[in-house]
Amino acid sequence: MAETKFLLPEDAIPRRWYNIQADLPNAPQPILHPGTGQPIGPDDLAPLFPMALIGQEVSQDAEVDIPEAIRDVYRLWRPTPLYRAHRLEQALGTRSRIFYKYEGVSPAGSHKPNTAIAQAYYVKQDGRRRIATETGAGQWGSAVALASQLFGLECKVYMVKVSYQQKPYRRSMMQTWGAEVVASPSEDTNAGRGILADHPDSPGSLGIAISEAVEDAATREDTAYSLGSVLNHVLMHQTVIGQEAIAQLEQAGAYPDLVVGCVGGGSNFAGLTFPFLREKIAGRDIDVLACEPAACPTLTRGPFAYDFGDTSQLTPLVPMHTLGHDFVPAGIHAGGLRYHGMAPLVSQLVVDDLIDAEAYNQNEVFASAVQFARSEAIIPAPEAAHAIHATIKAAREADEEGRERTILFNLSGHGHFDLGAYDAYLAGDLEDFELPDEEIERALKAIEPLPKPAGVAG
Ligand SMILES: Cc1ncc(COP(=O)(O)O)c(C=O)c1O
Repeated sequence: MAETKFLLPEDAIPRRWYNIQADLPNAPQPILHPGTGQPIGPDDLAPLFPMALIGQEVSQDAEVDIPEAIRDVYRLWRPTPLYRAHRLEQALGTRSRIFYKYEGVSPAGSHKPNTAIAQAYYVKQDGRRRIATETGAGQWGSAVALASQLFGLECKVYMVKVSYQQKPYRRSMMQTWGAEVVASPSEDTNAGRGILADHPDSPGSLGIAISEAVEDAATREDTAYSLGSVLNHVLMHQTVIGQEAIAQLEQAGAYPDLVVGCVGGGSNFAGLTFPFLREKIAGRDIDVLACEPAACPTLTRGPFAYDFGDTSQLTPLVPMHTLGHDFVPAGIHAGGLRYHGMAPLVSQLVVDDLIDAEAYNQNEVFASAVQFARSEAIIPAPEAAHAIHATIKAAREADEEGRERTILFNLSGHGHFDLGAYDAYLAGDLEDFELPDEEIERALKAIEPLPKPAGVAG
């Protein structure tokens, strides 16, 4: 049998992040100040982010050097392995070749530390001593707790209440790395108290938790805010994934014609696919597919519009696909994909038809996750299982058409803290949520008064 794992030495950890902004055929539209409607500048962001990250956010350089102190931490688990999914291929009886990049080997269990480590480094360099952040599934909060610990920073995590209840051990993990964790909406912020007053039983959402963390950071000088996805610099930090994958596929003597990632805010998808999109933009023929839950179908059913990144309207206006900032998705088990918006860079790629998007129900996603666990052995995070499902579906379709494809997907994390969800699936208790059009229309009323992106009818 051909090789199963493709490994790289530590000195093959990339020395630069790839910034897709330099190569996009159309630059994303500017982020706007909600008060003035004008593009925001560095000074508007300075209370929340270190200047180095603000610089990266707007950088047009194709490559940005990775400081050695960050590469030194990456050495703890990078380069991550690339696998050829021989056993899944056999189980499917497919003619296609399937590869996956496994980010679950990081200490926190996902791709999230790739940017958490970078962000903590720059916060420390900036002279601040504390980070406030939110977490959905708990993966991001764990990554920030770890990164804060390694760079000697305090950390406070606002954890979406439904995840806080579903995943008590994620909380334990964050506390073990020294972070303070509260269920969001919480009594600790004006945003949280406001939501609780109107909806005492609110399950929380990423939009609400972001409001709390932003308020925390904006009201304390010693504190930076840290976001786990969506922003340009966050997506750029993740590109170590795709760069390594390109080198590993070379070892395997393969090149993908389909690259797949799940999308919550877009960061693991970007991390794997942007280095391949660089080649696509230069003329190579590659399909790129983003997958999301049918219960939170931002790319497949949300309009491209200006919207707030959070529920309480504290953030600037972001040009993105959105379901409306007060949309609260059903409490599905892929907590990390329950976000109303999308990274502007990912949305721009959809607008420019460089990538496709599909949405799936959670029962079909878990069926694919279990098939994967029973063939490839790794128990995937429910978020990553969307990419597995897309891959299996694409391989089946290729077989029906008599095609042989080479498919690469991002296995963005393991599911060791998601076994409650597996229990529910195995017991037949998992519900699919068909989102009615009226619910989307209702939620989108919230963005009607906001400015419209150029080229979009008002
Ligand atoms: C394992 C895993 N995959 C994917 C995601 C989705 O986030 P993003 O779209 O930023 O990669 C999350 C978010 O928490 C996650 O934990």
